[in-house]
Amino acid sequence: MTNNNIYFVANWKMYGNSRTLRAIKNIKKLSKSKKFYKAKIIYCPPYTLLEQFANKVKNTNIMIGAQNCHYKIDYGPSTGFISAKMIKDTGSKFVIIGHSESRKEGDTDNKINLKIKTALKSNLKVIFCIGESLKEKKNNKTTLVLRKQIFNGLKNIKDLKNILIAYEPIWSIGTGVLPEINNLKLQVQKIRKILKNIFKNQNYKILYGGSVSPNNINKLSKIDIIDGFLIGGASQNEKKFIDIIKKTIN
Ligand code: PGA
Repeated sequence: MTNNNIYFVANWKMYGNSRTLRAIKNIKKLSKSKKFYKAKIIYCPPYTLLEQFANKVKNTNIMIGAQNCHYKIDYGPSTGFISAKMIKDTGSKFVIIGHSESRKEGDTDNKINLKIKTALKSNLKVIFCIGESLKEKKNNKTTLVLRKQIFNGLKNIKDLKNILIAYEPIWSIGTGVLPEINNLKLQVQKIRKILKNIFKNQNYKILYGGSVSPNNINKLSKIDIIDGFLIGGASQNEKKFIDIIKKTIN
């Protein structure tokens, strides 16, 4: 694992309610301990819990993020949507953009690009997800797909300072199937190369997401060019989430 800060992003997806909030007592304790100062923990609950979550983690190092935002920056007549400005107002610092589950619901590269720009303008940091489908992988299209997602998603964006890239192969999300470690390394190296072509020598942060669990984290955390993890299922269980953090940092 890298020697820098290590990100642990908990993507709660469409799960969680006010009762589930109680389940972060021990993680709050962990976040305050010196031993885990490198762990940057970011909880991304559904919109409905953002403010409660933000209040709950006050005076800790835990940060809060949303799972998506609208592509228009301000308040406006868009029934059923939430803008980046509104997310900022909840006390959140991050927003996930381009998750494959949001792409499936209609987030195109172009919309994703607009969303990233509005999020940055609203002073939110972005967790920008990219990843190939199983079909694309089988057709040897992975690098092509990732390049297109990066190129279009980050169009006209000059600075990666407030953007974390999350590589999430779609076929690995929620399936328990992990990429072969050497292939994963290779893919992350390729992503770094693509980013370097566009953004030159900036400092890129690349996370991995897809079936991360206490059972496979030892293998994953050996990859020193990964800066952290985007964790879905396992992050909804406090014990498993803590286990992942402990095994990575120890
Ligand atoms: P998973 O989800 O850890 O349940 O595979 C990851 C994600 O969707 O971000």
